[in-house]
Amino acid sequence: MGAERAGTVPEAVRGLREVPNEPGAAKPDAILVGDHVVRQFGGLKAVDVDHIEVQRGVITALIGPNGAGKTTLFNCLTGFDQPSSGKWSFNGKSLKGMPPHRVARRGMVRTFQLTKVLAKLTVIENMRLGATGQRGEKFWSAPFAALWRGQEAEITERADVLLQRFKLDTKREDFAGSLSGGQRKLLEMARSLMVDPELIMLDEPMAGVNPALKQSLLEHVVGLRDEGRTVLFVEHDMDMVRDIADWVVVMAQGRIVAEGTPDAVMADEAVIDAYLGAHHDTDLSDLDEDELEEEAREEIEEEERK
Ligand SMILES: Nc1ncnc2c1ncn2[C@@H]1O[C@H](COP(=O)(O)OP(=O)(O)O)[C@@H](O)[C@H]1O
Ligand SMILES: [Mg+2]
Repeated sequence: MGAERAGTVPEAVRGLREVPNEPGAAKPDAILVGDHVVRQFGGLKAVDVDHIEVQRGVITALIGPNGAGKTTLFNCLTGFDQPSSGKWSFNGKSLKGMPPHRVARRGMVRTFQLTKVLAKLTVIENMRLGATGQRGEKFWSAPFAALWRGQEAEITERADVLLQRFKLDTKREDFAGSLSGGQRKLLEMARSLMVDPELIMLDEPMAGVNPALKQSLLEHVVGLRDEGRTVLFVEHDMDMVRDIADWVVVMAQGRIVAEGTPDAVMADEAVIDAYLGAHHDTDLSDLDEDELEEEAREEIEEEERK
């Protein structure tokens, strides 16, 4: 396990030793719990999760072939989409029907597979928006933004500390659109920390990032756990999962098909089947960075037209 290899074994990681390697396994200290979470698109059950528990204070990797439902599950749990049925709770409180910015202010944030930094805002402006739980840029023209303006100095100070930590301080006044794909991933991670979340969900944080920046991103992910946060991240690179994950959840065709320590999961027949049975032709980690940036730009422009 990631933390055990590093020599320090936090209490939360130790708690996982008692957990059986099976789908839906109960955790000693679950921060996030979902029951019968189903998201249907027409005839397709994109997500069909009977039970999921995420242990507090550890790094959990969510893996599975493309189309397994990982992003849709993230969307449902964080309020960006509503499941067709089911219930889920964070710190024991239901989040059903709650919009994403309120979920974020409760302490659960997520980043996107295709980064959603606002290209036409500067890096520091993107960070300030993060403090609202990532409402749109129009938020600042709304009347209740006055409430936020009162805290501007405090927000800016927090933003600057984070920019320094993620080595983006020299880019402070640059448009986010001018950043490389990897820098955008860093900005998104930094921005999500503006609400001081307990749980941070990262959707393919390493996809399209060059190897040099990958190592730095990886260290940041471990750093989040080491400062007491819970991390749930989607990743295709199994070496990376083995390196930093304390626990692994495997999805295929909307369902959780396996769960356990990285070593146990990677030796599991169901996991091997799920991967061998899948098509990898659209694996994002195979796309080059320019292509990803282009996609992200299109997505941002589409967002701005709404
Ligand atoms: N908005 C949508 N409308 C219709 N189908 C969707 C939508 N979003 C996702 N899907 C489908 O749901 C399935 C799961 O997708 P997704 O959650 O993106 O998988 P993953 O993130 O594991 O690659 C896929 O078959 C995908 O095509
Ligand atoms: Mg996805």
